[in-house]
Amino acid sequence: MAAGESFYIATPIFYVNDVPHIGHAYTEVAADVLARWHRQAGDDTWLLTGTDEHGQKILRTAVANDTTPKAWADKLVADAWQPLLKTINISNDDFIRTTEERHEKAVTIFLQKLYDDGFIYSGEYEGYYCVGCEEYKQLDDLMELPSGDYAGRLLCKIHSIPVEVLKEKNYFFRMSDFQQRLLDLYELQPDFIQPESVRNEIIQFVKQGLDDLSISRSSFDWGITIPWDHSHVLYVWFDALLNYITAVGYGTDQENFERRWPAVQLVGKDIARFHAVIWPAMLMAAGLPVPRKVFGHGWLLVGGEKMSKSKLTGIAPSEITDTFGVDAFRYYFMRAISFGQDGSFSWEDLSARYQAELANGFGNLASRVIAMVSRYRQGVIPNPGPFTEADEAIRAAERRVTLDADAAIERLAIHEALASIWTLVDELNGYITIQEPWALSKDPANAERLDTVLFTIVRGLGTLAVLLAPVIPDAAAKLWAAIGGSGAVADQDVRAAYDWTGAPTVTALESPLFPRIEQVETASA
Ligand code: MSP
Repeated sequence: MAAGESFYIATPIFYVNDVPHIGHAYTEVAADVLARWHRQAGDDTWLLTGTDEHGQKILRTAVANDTTPKAWADKLVADAWQPLLKTINISNDDFIRTTEERHEKAVTIFLQKLYDDGFIYSGEYEGYYCVGCEEYKQLDDLMELPSGDYAGRLLCKIHSIPVEVLKEKNYFFRMSDFQQRLLDLYELQPDFIQPESVRNEIIQFVKQGLDDLSISRSSFDWGITIPWDHSHVLYVWFDALLNYITAVGYGTDQENFERRWPAVQLVGKDIARFHAVIWPAMLMAAGLPVPRKVFGHGWLLVGGEKMSKSKLTGIAPSEITDTFGVDAFRYYFMRAISFGQDGSFSWEDLSARYQAELANGFGNLASRVIAMVSRYRQGVIPNPGPFTEADEAIRAAERRVTLDADAAIERLAIHEALASIWTLVDELNGYITIQEPWALSKDPANAERLDTVLFTIVRGLGTLAVLLAPVIPDAAAKLWAAIGGSGAVADQDVRAAYDWTGAPTVTALESPLFPRIEQVETASA
């Protein structure tokens, strides 16, 4: 995209029934890397995240904890969800809570519009409801187990808990009206849903026909009141999906809304249907643009299953950051898992990549280069002499990697961007091995050649610092300062990372960018 264009990216808003685990942090980091990249490219960037606080799941959790749902949500937001963003260094521009007045007001405007325009009617509904999913289920989504506590009962396949039979008078959204328009959207805008596997699944689902959607509940009151019938509250998903527009001014600040919307939306593949079917249908009914794209990323698996708190496989992000640091957390999940596919988490893999890629590959390169400039040139970055083919090859690699990484980010292939950037780390390490600056330093006749080699490797580090700032912001900032980069690394144009031309001096790093970790076993114990 061209610099200066609007880039609005949103994460799902998280249920506050429990504390975050690394699956939640994964979505946050991916969105943050993309936002930082676009910000650094000069795009008009906005990163939104937040919390989903209404509905039965939160209400029941609050009751079970002897408190009110609002007090429970306030506590979880303050003690767990806001701190998560600090723990993993998320640069969000806003944080929306669905209990905020700005949200509730705009939701009411949206609902009333759909009602006035005839997209909502009242009817009766009977069906199986899973409170874990906050969703009515079809028989296909359910299972029975032959033995155990729930033997003979119908269970949600995702949560393995019994579903409830609900029969209520509800208000319905005419979602079935939008089947063809949705199929047209998927066809005309083939990258609307990504990756391909999720797209195919959604198309299949919609082709089978869409039912109207029950959007209100009257058996409890923890939700946004239906404006024309105060005995009902809004279905939690209908409420939550609207956060993406209420947070940027829908119904309250038209100018800002037009500036930001539509967004790129990252969601776990388990909730892609809500985002790629219900959500665009709602927007179409209101005459609003649909999201720019909906990307359904894969799951972090533990023991082959989706990591989840309810199955006691949740790992708190701080368990990893306390040992490996925030940057390593961010790097690991973005590098080790192809964005869009499932990935198994293991301490061994994390530790091996930390050691090989961050400590030895990149961190050591940075320390060596800075140490050599200090030792051989008293910290002054020399002017280069004539360039050889080997020097030109590094120059070409800087340019190639910058362009490739930007193209990969455009496709949301964060892992490919990192793999590409790492080819520069490897090429620089290879270049140093071949050029042997330590050997050049022994003979004053080679002084000019040594200047060129030192210049080339410092410039390579400059390119790396700029390209890696969105992923490992702390290490990149330290490196940038150490090689004398001017201004903040986060302000350097990432699409021109290869253009860095060198600074006058280097300053020794106070500590390695990625120190060796001796006691990794303690983390996995
Ligand atoms: N509140 C809804 C979203 C509403 S958006 C309008 C919700 N919340 S959630 O807290 O259960 O999940 C939030 C996100 O975390 C989802 O995208 C979900 O896929 C993601 N993850 C939860 N567990 C995960 C893994 N084990 N791995 C990767 N992502 C995971 O759903």
